[in-house]
Amino acid sequence: MNLRRRAFLGSAMALAACGRRASSQPRRDYAPHDLPPLKAAAPFPVGTCITTAQLDDPAFAAFVAAQVSQLTPEWELKMEYVVQADGSHRFDAPDRIAAFAADRGLRFFGHTLVWYAQAPEAFARLEGGAFRDAYAAYIAAVVGRYKGRAVGWDVVNEAVAEDGDGWRDSLWSQRLGALEHMRLAYQLAHAADPGAALFLNDYNLERSPQKRSTFLKLAEALLHAGAPLSGLGTQTHVGADLPPGAITAALRDLASLGLKVRISEMDVSLSRASGGDLERRQAALYAEAAEAYAALPASQRFDFTFWGLCDGQSWLRREHADDTPLLFDDRDQPKPAAAAWERAL
Ligand code: G3I
Repeated sequence: MNLRRRAFLGSAMALAACGRRASSQPRRDYAPHDLPPLKAAAPFPVGTCITTAQLDDPAFAAFVAAQVSQLTPEWELKMEYVVQADGSHRFDAPDRIAAFAADRGLRFFGHTLVWYAQAPEAFARLEGGAFRDAYAAYIAAVVGRYKGRAVGWDVVNEAVAEDGDGWRDSLWSQRLGALEHMRLAYQLAHAADPGAALFLNDYNLERSPQKRSTFLKLAEALLHAGAPLSGLGTQTHVGADLPPGAITAALRDLASLGLKVRISEMDVSLSRASGGDLERRQAALYAEAAEAYAALPASQRFDFTFWGLCDGQSWLRREHADDTPLLFDDRDQPKPAAAAWERAL
C-alpha cells in the first residue's frame, strides 16, 4: 500500500475521532485528498500534541502516527497530572503516550517541567530545604523516567512576563530565586538525562519584539550562569491577522544565539483574529512558518510541532467553539493551510 493511499486511509479512518463533534462548519474548498503525510513533506521532524483520551480511538491514533514523527503530551506530563495531593507522582498516562510513540517509531518530547501556571499545593506547603529537595526529586524522577526515550524537554515554560518587561513571578522564583530556579532545573534535567535536548519555551514572541528580546536575554543569562540550555522554543499560537513577516523575524532572532530552535505549539486562530480573508491568511502564515523554519541551518532545526492536527482537538475550542486553527478540519480533511504548509517546503 503506497504512502499516499495509507495517508488517505489514515485520514478517512480518523474521521470518527477528530470529527467527534458534528461541525456546523460550511463545506469549503479542500486541499487535495492525496496530500502526502506532513512528515513526508518536511526535511525535519514534525510533531503534534496528544492526549491518552485521543489514543483511546485507534482510528485517530493511526491518523496521527501516519502524519507526524514526534509526539508531545498535551497535559498529562505536567505537574497537574503527575503530582498527587500527597506529593507522590503518577506516570500511567505519559507512559502510555511514550509507549505508543515507541511502538510507532515516533519521537517523544517532554512538556513541561517548570511552569508558573502549575504550582501544586504539594509543593506550596513545603519550606526551605524540603521545597528544594522536592523540586530536585521531581525533575530527576520525571526526566529520569524517560531517559533515552525523550529526545528533549521544555524545562522552563513561559518565564517571561506577559508584557515582556522582565521575568514572571512564580512559586518557583519566590522559593528558589528568579534565575536560580531555572538554572537549577536545567542542571537537574541534564544530570537525569545528559542525552536530552533542553529547551526554554514561550509564546507571543512573534507579536511582541520586546518579549522576544527579554526572552533572548534570559537565554543568554541562563547560558552565562552555566545552565545546559540546548535550545529555544517559540509556541507560535498566533491569530490569522498576524502581519506577514513576523514569524520569519522571530525565527531569525531566535536562531541568532546559535542554539537549537523549535516551533513548539503552532496553531493559527481565526476566532481570535480580526479582518477579512482569514482562511487565506491562515494558510499564508502556515506557509511562512514552514518556509522560515526550513531556511534555518539544519544543525539548528529540532522539530516543528503543531498544537493538534484536527480542529476538533484544539484547546482553542474551549474559547471559541467554532474556531478552526489547525491543518485538518472536523472531518479530518486536509485544509488549504495543510497544502500551503507542504507546498512551502
Ligand atoms: O481530561 C480531563 C477531564 O477528564 C477532567 O474531568 C477535567 C477536569 O479536571 O480535566 C481534563 O483535563 C484537562 C486537559 O486540558 C484536557 O482537556 C485539564 O484539566 C486542563 O488543565 C488541560 O488544559 C491544557 C492546558 O495547557 C493546561 O495544561 C490544555 O489541554 C493544553 O492545550 C494547554 O497547552 C498550553 C501549553 O502547555 C503551554 N502553552 C499554551 C498552551 C495552551 O494553553
